[in-house]
Amino acid sequence: MQSEILVIGATGKTGRRVAKRLAARGVPVRPGTRRSAIPFDWESPETWGASLKDIKTAYVAYSPDLAVPSAHGVIAAFVAAAEQAGLRRVVLLSERNEARAQACEKLLMDSSLDWTILRPSWFMQNFSEGGFLENVLAGEVSAPDSGAPEPWVDLDDVADVAVAALLEDGHTGQVYEITGSDLLTWDEAVARIAAVTGRDVSYRTATPQEFENTLVAAGFAKSDAETVATLVAEILDGKNASTSDGLQRALGRQPRSFAQFAGDAHAQGCWQ
Ligand SMILES: NC(=O)c1ccc[n+]([C@@H]2O[C@H](COP(=O)([O-])OP(=O)(O)OC[C@H]3O[C@@H](n4cnc5c(N)ncnc54)[C@H](OP(=O)(O)O)[C@@H]3O)[C@@H](O)[C@H]2O)c1
Repeated sequence: MQSEILVIGATGKTGRRVAKRLAARGVPVRPGTRRSAIPFDWESPETWGASLKDIKTAYVAYSPDLAVPSAHGVIAAFVAAAEQAGLRRVVLLSERNEARAQACEKLLMDSSLDWTILRPSWFMQNFSEGGFLENVLAGEVSAPDSGAPEPWVDLDDVADVAVAALLEDGHTGQVYEITGSDLLTWDEAVARIAAVTGRDVSYRTATPQEFENTLVAAGFAKSDAETVATLVAEILDGKNASTSDGLQRALGRQPRSFAQFAGDAHAQGCWQ
């Protein structure tokens, strides 16, 4: 019988897709969030032991982000706890070209665990489920972008790679940079959503300070808003303006397109 898989961040954008795919295959899932039956909190290491008990395989989506300065110490402690608890296989959700996230990955790579690292590009679903949904509905999206195009990735693709790495052999020790194949600027991506939905929604490049102010207005604490605005501006500075072949290497198929994403999200009523 397939043993239970721990999904940390199981109600989030990637985790819920991973959990759903595992459940569809009859694999028992132990959700790991602050509100699960067995609560898991990154900020409370005393919760980790119960979540890890008798678990051999885990999907790990860190919150808020592996690039925040405190993440390194937390991941170091988590890796030690996981080794001690007898965890064997970990699939870690990371990100592309981010030195602090890569330092966290290294902790896993240097451990005794069997690891697979996922480095996705910007999520298409940020527009339909994530932080930019409210902006789309309000008619104006803005971010501190550099004008460079992004290879937006569909989270259904990221979840498919995660599940393959959790269940199949051949993915241990792999770093998968997972991107879409359409390189679109923010302006172009938002224009496509406007075209699919018929909504009057436009894009405007914001300065990091303007973006920070928007986050504060949305309820972020000032220090968190500053960290997130700086991080987003760094990620969008143009270093990620290229596609990669992680999905193709892992699954042997092509990524979903932005048009498929936008059509499906619209059909599901995400922007109504
Ligand atoms: N957005 C992007 O474009 C992008 C691109 C590349 C990589 N990433 C990475 O994606 C990761 C986020 O994954 P996601 O988008 O799937 O998640 P998400 O949608 O942001 O959801 C967060 C999940 O983590 C849980 N959570 C929040 N705080 C927690 C805590 N202190 N302890 C335990 N669980 C907590 C939440 O549940 P509860 O609130 O109930 O606890 C929820 O299940 C980040 O590490 C980010 O760097 C994002």
